[in-house]
Amino acid sequence: MRVCVIGTGYVGLVTGACLAHIGHDVVCIDNNEEKVKIMKSGQSPIFEPGLSDIMQSAISTGKIEFSSDLAAGVAHGEILFIAVGTPPLPTGESDTRYVEAVARGIGAHLDGGYKVIVNKSTVPIGSGDWVRMIVLDGIAERQNTLITAGGAPTYDKLPEITAQFDVVSNPEFLREGSAVYDTFNPDRIVLGGNSPRAIAMMKELYTPIVERKFATDPSLPPVPVLVTDLSSAEMIKYAANAFLATKISFINEVANICDRVGADVTQVAKGIGLDSRIGNKFLNAGIGWGGSCFPKDVSALIHTADDYGYETQLLKAAVSVNERQRLLAIEKLQQTLKILKGKTVGLLGLTFKPDTDDMRDAPALNVIEQLNRLGARVKAYDPIVSQTGMRHGLSGVLVETDAERLADGCDALVLVTEWQQFKNLDYAKMAQLMSHPVMIDGRNFLDPEIMVRAGFQYVGIGR
Ligand code: UDX
Repeated sequence: MRVCVIGTGYVGLVTGACLAHIGHDVVCIDNNEEKVKIMKSGQSPIFEPGLSDIMQSAISTGKIEFSSDLAAGVAHGEILFIAVGTPPLPTGESDTRYVEAVARGIGAHLDGGYKVIVNKSTVPIGSGDWVRMIVLDGIAERQNTLITAGGAPTYDKLPEITAQFDVVSNPEFLREGSAVYDTFNPDRIVLGGNSPRAIAMMKELYTPIVERKFATDPSLPPVPVLVTDLSSAEMIKYAANAFLATKISFINEVANICDRVGADVTQVAKGIGLDSRIGNKFLNAGIGWGGSCFPKDVSALIHTADDYGYETQLLKAAVSVNERQRLLAIEKLQQTLKILKGKTVGLLGLTFKPDTDDMRDAPALNVIEQLNRLGARVKAYDPIVSQTGMRHGLSGVLVETDAERLADGCDALVLVTEWQQFKNLDYAKMAQLMSHPVMIDGRNFLDPEIMVRAGFQYVGIGR
């Protein structure tokens, strides 16, 4: 099928590359010319395992093209994905101006053939109908321009064009760091909309994925496809993220109680996770959730509820547990080192999770800010950030090039991100390089016995 993906952030680029990989003809549109140039050369502007490989193979088979020409993209696609960002405003609402601009642009370039317009961006509930309205505005604006320019016959074309598209909500559940894997191995596909024609086209688009043709385990039963109305599909995305974030805040709260009563939260998580009603995933206690989705989506859902006269209690509590949790490493440093002024603290990891270069809403940012405020010197080593340098706009932290340089002269280390390679560092050597070998394991990632043998005073979260 002919697909156009507008916006090449994490969601758009992964979606475009994966759809090209399974055989569709994809054009990815971005208004950033520099980025388009990079992608044309087969390079991914973001760090995402496996992404540049599938981009390069799709470029070589001619299945994917990159461009900044929205008109050409709209003309190409029978399915048009809107995958631009919806960043949070200071109020917690989503900033939908990029979605609006794209929807208007699509309207201005619709050519009369039938199109399915897909909301892939996480948009506020109710956005499906709103996008439809904006696309119609775009069409009307173009009509007006043509009429003003003397093209009177286009009057007749308006009703014909307006009948030629439908809007579908198709939320994305991929995780950064495993986005390509998640796209080929989804737990479900959600399609929201009331047009049978549009839903049928979306089902056709995803057939190879539903039939697990590109799955790691092709013998699994087909991927469930949930077809529902627009608002429910939009709500599913928010409810899923809010549930997962709440699940983590729950285990973090349990960890804080474990710390006080002398229980081990990793054992508790194992014990409750074996109950199939609870499940063992997203029960790792640590220094809180971050990233581009959970904080933004939970705030947006709280905000939507407020707009409709309902004050959320559980979701607000999940956020406030998380805010506190993100500073737990500081509390633990104070308990072990006492005064932090004049001390040097080394952070192992900076990104909000491993296998990504994403620093958006990363707990590390709160830790750095607070340590600076308390007069401590902060150093850090992160496998990706240390390579890509200061383009992350980090301040108040000296970024070292390896873990041993980081350890040198530190009074304590804090493991902020559970990068796999942190399992195998030479901790005995690092302990020797430190003034005080203290390890605050903010992700309960290291083996306490091994750390003690390496010469560290080990402090975990709730264990
Ligand atoms: C999340 C959702 O998982 C995904 O379905 C959605 O599409 C986008 O948001 P992502 O933000 O990439 O994905 O990362 P995820 O792996 O979910 O982790 C989010 C945050 O929770 C990270 O800061 C992570 O460290 C933290 N986390 C996760 C925990 O603290 N404990 C856990 O057990 C799991």
